[in-house]
Amino acid sequence: MMEVKTVRLIFICFSLLHGFAEALRCTSPTLESLFEALEREVFNKKHLRPVKKPTDALNVSVGMTLEGILGVNEKAQSVTSLLWQVLEWDIEGLSWDEKECGVRRVSVPRDKLWIPDVIIAEIMDEDTSPFIPYVYLYNTGRVYDDRPLRMVTSCRLEIYTFPFDIQNCSLTFGPFLHLVEDVRMFARSSAEEILAESRNVMQIQGEWELLDIIGTPRTLNIIAGSYSEIRYYIILRRRPILYVVNLLMPSCFLITLDLFSFLLPPHSVDRSSFKMTLILGYTVFLLLMNDLLPVTGNSTPLMNVFFSISLALMVASLLETVFITNIQLSGDQHGVMPNWLKVLVLRYLAVIVCVPQAKRNRRVAMSPHAPARAMNISSVSVDTPPVTPLHEPALDELRKLSKDLMAIRHHVDKHFKGNHMSQEWQMMGIVIDRLLFGLYILFILICLITIVCIWTLSSSHVSS
Ligand SMILES: *[C@@H]1O[C@H](CO)[C@@H](O)[C@H](O)[C@H]1NC(C)=O
Ligand SMILES: *[C@@H]1O[C@H](CO)[C@@H](O)[C@H](O)[C@H]1NC(C)=O
Repeated sequence: MMEVKTVRLIFICFSLLHGFAEALRCTSPTLESLFEALEREVFNKKHLRPVKKPTDALNVSVGMTLEGILGVNEKAQSVTSLLWQVLEWDIEGLSWDEKECGVRRVSVPRDKLWIPDVIIAEIMDEDTSPFIPYVYLYNTGRVYDDRPLRMVTSCRLEIYTFPFDIQNCSLTFGPFLHLVEDVRMFARSSAEEILAESRNVMQIQGEWELLDIIGTPRTLNIIAGSYSEIRYYIILRRRPILYVVNLLMPSCFLITLDLFSFLLPPHSVDRSSFKMTLILGYTVFLLLMNDLLPVTGNSTPLMNVFFSISLALMVASLLETVFITNIQLSGDQHGVMPNWLKVLVLRYLAVIVCVPQAKRNRRVAMSPHAPARAMNISSVSVDTPPVTPLHEPALDELRKLSKDLMAIRHHVDKHFKGNHMSQEWQMMGIVIDRLLFGLYILFILICLITIVCIWTLSSSHVSS
């Protein structure tokens, strides 16, 4: 009796050393006999990690294929995607003879085996993936677990360059509980193969284009211990054409229209009502397009800034039109232009916006001294005592004449001065008009250059 027990003990020890399970013996090449054997050797040990020694790590290889990008939510900072996940690991020591048992692989219910608790770390919504109840078991002891995942994962989305943005989202596969000493992750295939296969099967892309997949195995060290993980970076690029056609182009058209409205005479009522209508149209356009624009808390797309500046320019040009109309129609009622304003606008700004020198001289330096000098001469010639004494009546006549002349002179002078003042104001109107026109052109140029730069930068990513 004692001997039998010892032999059994030795046998158990030996079999433990030999492996988790043993080579299966099938009585006949049927599934029934195979499952009987599996029940005996494998299914009743489903609570045990299938390794030879308890200190061994189980090697799990993970593979994935990205099947579709269903949606990107900028506000929630999440990406909804569809992928196939393949996990493979070995039940150590398990094997059977293909001829003896009739098959090379069988599908067995998932809950009959020990399954590694591999999850995707970024997952942020409850799993809505279809449940696949079976896994494949091969005669070499290899388990093949393939299932689809439909998941919402968190991703830090950068929308600054919207709609020419490129997103870099990570998917991290790893066991949630098991430390690196127990479960070790390996990549089943290289990132290039995953990329090629994903491009092959991808049907649902929507507005997103898969640019690249980069894979790195890594060990995550936290206080609880070290975890083995495989992290993939999925690089996605937005297809900008929808936004270019729907947002950028209409906006550019409206701005161009507003730009050309500078060609209308500034003081005409047409120009201000034209600009008013444009602003109204632009506001309606912005309202309609508001839900096409992404919103996040942490950054504002450059495009929103572009829209804001466009609107600001339109409003500014309308204000300027009102101002110019005011000073051009009633310039002489404003009185004398303050000296600092005259220097600032007529001397410096006029040079900057290239109002021709001759025009400026003709209009601005409208000989304010000439009438005065003329008057001096006239007064001198009247007030100095005549060399030749004249008769009294003639002298009286001359004095009267001189008085009349002075009155006329004064009138003409006043007229000249008023005229001169209103001309200064008009000149200022012209200078400001030109300045805004220049600013407009500058803004449009900068926008164009920025858009072209960002666009080429984002599309050069594809070839690199
Ligand atoms: C797991 O992988 C490591 C590293 O490749 C290897 O040394 C080890 O033997 C593997 N373990 C098993 C049980 O295959
Ligand atoms: C994506 O992000 C990771 C981590 O921030 C970085 O290492 C990787 O280079 C990025 N890839 C691209 C293409 O930007």
